[in-house]
Order: sequence, then structure tokens, then C-alpha cells
Amino acid sequence: MPKTLRDIPELPAYVEGQTDHDFMAAARSQGPLARNQLGIISGFSLANMELINDDRWTRQIEMEAMFISGVRDGPMFEFQRNAVLFSNGQTHRNRRGPLVRSFANKVISEMRPRISARVRALVAPLRGTGSIDFLEAIAGPFPAQVIASIIGAPEDDTGMFARHVYSAIRGLSHCSEEVRAESNADMAALDTYVAGLIAQRRATPEADFLSTYLERGQDGPLTEDEVRAQLTALVLAGSDTTRGALASTISQLLQHPEQWALLVNDPDRWAEAAVLEGLRFDPVIGSLPRITLEPREVEGVLIPKGSFIAVSMLTALRDPEVYGDPDRFDITRTDHPRLHPVFGGGPHRCLGEALARIELEEALKALARLVPDMQLDGPPVQLRGYGAVRNLSAMRVVV
Ligand code: HEM
Repeated sequence: MPKTLRDIPELPAYVEGQTDHDFMAAARSQGPLARNQLGIISGFSLANMELINDDRWTRQIEMEAMFISGVRDGPMFEFQRNAVLFSNGQTHRNRRGPLVRSFANKVISEMRPRISARVRALVAPLRGTGSIDFLEAIAGPFPAQVIASIIGAPEDDTGMFARHVYSAIRGLSHCSEEVRAESNADMAALDTYVAGLIAQRRATPEADFLSTYLERGQDGPLTEDEVRAQLTALVLAGSDTTRGALASTISQLLQHPEQWALLVNDPDRWAEAAVLEGLRFDPVIGSLPRITLEPREVEGVLIPKGSFIAVSMLTALRDPEVYGDPDRFDITRTDHPRLHPVFGGGPHRCLGEALARIELEEALKALARLVPDMQLDGPPVQLRGYGAVRNLSAMRVVV
């Protein structure tokens, strides 16, 4: 006889000073599932993650998270209503289709030399300048510049739109009213900016991503709001995640000098492995949420149809069934699954995986070659949060 939802323990109380990993490990130690006061079920294993990415059993969250937070309108609400990530079925296929070809591995691989040149140009002038803010000087501008160049935004606008992105994205997780107001203002600014880019490109088409995308969507089923939302989604998804992943990976490498030395001695050999491990060890995404479409027994508990279930990326990527010695940062590990789980799975698997991995690899190579003596200057970056994109604290390094 399967157990029922009432048998699932509540998430433990947060203990002051705990890291997110400590908290999640404490939650997992109570049993394979937990639930919070809102009734949201948490799963912890990689097997649970694979289960919720199966769209025969679950569907993507649409507007439910906004409704739970009491939000019924506003720029973030409108964005979410129109964006690829928050849709299902045919609507999702319509929104994803025109983007897929532009982000295909082959197309993105051809960009590697330009991406590499861009990060080298960013790092080289910093050599010997002493202590720098790693996020401000490198991890932030680099992916923002890359995505700006892909969607055809002028380079000078990069800083401005990156700031809107970092602020707007906070509104996708549960947040205070104050943060929500700021997030809405920044989303409105991004939306206006993207509308301007589209108008410009329609007036003067070029042989680039934006013109091709607009042309592909011209007679398609997408509304004008959807066209804008997909471009904004790229900017949003393409800047903040890679920024966090780069800061997180570098911080781990610098805390493990013997592994940084491996990379410095042979960047071509170790960059890819270091990226995979950086993405696993302290991931930039906190969890993936879904809504169940059918009743199903999971971990001995009958989960009813219509349940809200979120699997923790933090614990899934340290699942002892999959990773040996999972709490150890180790770029030499060989037990990564073929598809890296940090990019999700099923129909919503990350569209920007190839781009993100190339950016991260080229950034590590450039840093290892140009500033091999780089060291932390103060505390390493801290990633905080269990929801969508996790927050980052500042990190200084001496170059
Ligand atoms: C380290 C960097 C990144 C990580 C860890 C990451 C992770 C993810 C994950 C986990 C999802 C699926 C979410 C879900 O199923 O609920 C996703 C979706 C997505 N990502 Fe990424 N991402 C990264 C970088 C990028 C970049 C660079 C881009 C684009 C330029 C991008 C574009 C997207 C888009 C458009 C989706 C929505 C796909 C869909 O709903 O069909 N991501 N990403």
C-alpha cells in the first residue's frame, strides 16, 4: 500500500549559517521526498529529476508560480505568459522551433573562435592590474557581450541590458514586493529595448541571427508579444546563468590550487572537464519545478495528479548513486552522465547548452593562459537560493 502526501516529512527548519548544500543534505537525510508549507513536493535524486522531465507524467509550470505569489499582471507576468520556458505542447513547439536551428551545435561551434577572441580581449588588459571584481570585470560582461552580438545589439548597450537582466531575473523566483517592483521595471526596459531592436532590423534587414529569426517567424503562428518574449528570453537565459557558472567554477578551481594547476599546465586538455565539474558542484540553477499530469507512485508515495513537484539540482548533482564522492570538487572525475543534468531534460532541455559550454571552456582557457597566477582576494563567490537562477555574492581576484 503506497504512502500518501501526509506521510511526506516537511522540509527541516533552516539553521543559521547553513549553506544551501547543508540545508538540502539535511532535507534529504529525512527521506527521499519532503514538502513545504505550500504543499510543494521536493525530490532529491537524479532519478527523480529524470522522472519530472518526462512530459508524459508532468508539464512545465505556466503561470502557477506567479499566481501563488499573488501576481496577476505586470511586465514579468506578460513575459512569462509569452516565453518558451513557461509553455507546453504545441505552444511550446511553436515558440521553440524557430530558435532551435539558430542554436544548433554546428552553428554555435562555428562561433568558437570569435567567442575565444572576445574573452581574451576582455582578460588581456586586466593582467597585472591587481585586485578586480571578477563578476563586474569578466563573468558578467563576457556572456552579455556574446548574446548581444548574437541578437545584433550594439556592443555599447551590453552593460545597460546586462544590468536590466540581473535585476529582472530575480522576479522569476519567489521574492519580496520590493524586488518584484524592481524586476518589473527592468523587464519593462528590456522589453522596450528588444522592441527597438526588432523595429530597426525590420527596417534594415541584415544577414544575421535576428533578421533570420524574424523572417522565419513572419508568417508563423507567433504573436508580436511572443516574438519579443523569445528574444528577451535568450538575453535573460543567456547572460545570468553563464555568469554564475563561470564565477562558481573559477572560485572552486582557485580553492583547489592543484586542480587550477592542472588546467594552467594544459588548458586544452582540462577545460572541458573543469566546466562539467564546475556546472555540477555548485550549480547556478537551484531546482526544476513541474506539475504532475497523472497519479503516480514515487519513492513509495502516491503523488496525485495536479501536484507541484520540484527536484533540487543541488542534491541531484551530488547523488551518491551516480557520482563517486559527490561532495568533492574533482575535475578529473569520469562519472558525469552523458547529458549534463544541469541543462535539464525532456522538451525544455536548455537551448543554449552548446553556447554556454563553449563560452565557459574558452573563458577557462583564456584565464589559465593569460592570468595563470590568479588568486582569490577575499571570500569566494557564494551562490544562494533553491529556486530558478541562484543569486551570487561578489568575488574579487588578483590578476
Ligand atoms: C551555464 C549556463 C546555463 C544553464 C545551467 C542553463 C540551464 C537551463 C535549464 C536547466 C533549462 C530548462 C529549465 C526547465 O526545464 O524548467 C534551460 C532552458 C533554456 N535555456 Fe539554458 N542554461 C544555461 C545557459 C543558456 C544560454 C547561454 C542560453 C541562450 C543563449 C540559454 C537558453 C535557454 C532557453 C531559451 C531555455 C528554454 C528552453 C525551452 O523551454 O524549451 N541557456 N536552461
